[in-house]
Amino acid sequence: MEPSEVIRNTERFVKERLKGEPTGHDWYHVERVRNIANTLYESEGGDWLIIELTLLLHDVGDRKVINEDDDDYTIAENFLTQQELSPELIEAIMNIIKTMSFSKSFDTQAEEKSLEFQIVQDSDRLDALGAIGIARAFAFGGSRGRALYDPEHQAQTYHSSEEYKKSEGSTFHHFEEKLLLLKDLLNTDTAKKIAEERDEFMRTFLKEFLDEWNGQK
Ligand code: ADP
Ligand code: NI
Repeated sequence: MEPSEVIRNTERFVKERLKGEPTGHDWYHVERVRNIANTLYESEGGDWLIIELTLLLHDVGDRKVINEDDDDYTIAENFLTQQELSPELIEAIMNIIKTMSFSKSFDTQAEEKSLEFQIVQDSDRLDALGAIGIARAFAFGGSRGRALYDPEHQAQTYHSSEEYKKSEGSTFHHFEEKLLLLKDLLNTDTAKKIAEERDEFMRTFLKEFLDEWNGQK
């Protein structure tokens, strides 16, 4: 199969799986991640076929998307196997998908990260920041019945993937617990630059949110 055919098949498969996804992980998230990844790839390099296939499939088995306690990697892996790709290519893609998420970063050591890993992870993380990041966070919170903000609780610091997954805090707290940390966890210089404005915008939003909440506006 030509690479362009594999990409078309993958787009079709992912669109179908993520149709109507209500937690901010729909097909348009994937399209935005692809656009960001393309920008990063143009200045950082890497193997575009690995980057593109990985980002297209990165969320199809995510526990948030399938609404389960754990990720299901067989969805992406079985699909790739049907595309008659080399075992090496499938392994390169699956290695990234299995280790790139924020919840995994508590447990996995910072081993050697491939350039493709760095670009896909940075692109996914950039889409969790800024105006889009704010919209996605509240969409996620709404889908789980979480409060916008709970003034009686404080943001937590998580030390393990299990602890993080069990968190039930308000969406406002999710910014302090995760989204504001992402800027310093990015891999590539190009992504770090893009993140600055997005991070600043979120901080402005959070300050305004609290001022309005407290009747100071
Ligand atoms: P990861 O798997 O690394 O967390 P994803 O792209 O799959 O990355 O999902 C991250 C998105 O999910 C973020 O945009 C974030 O806003 C949303 N999200 C995850 N957990 C929460 C939460 N507890 N509250 C609000 N949003 C959340
Ligand atoms: Ni994602």
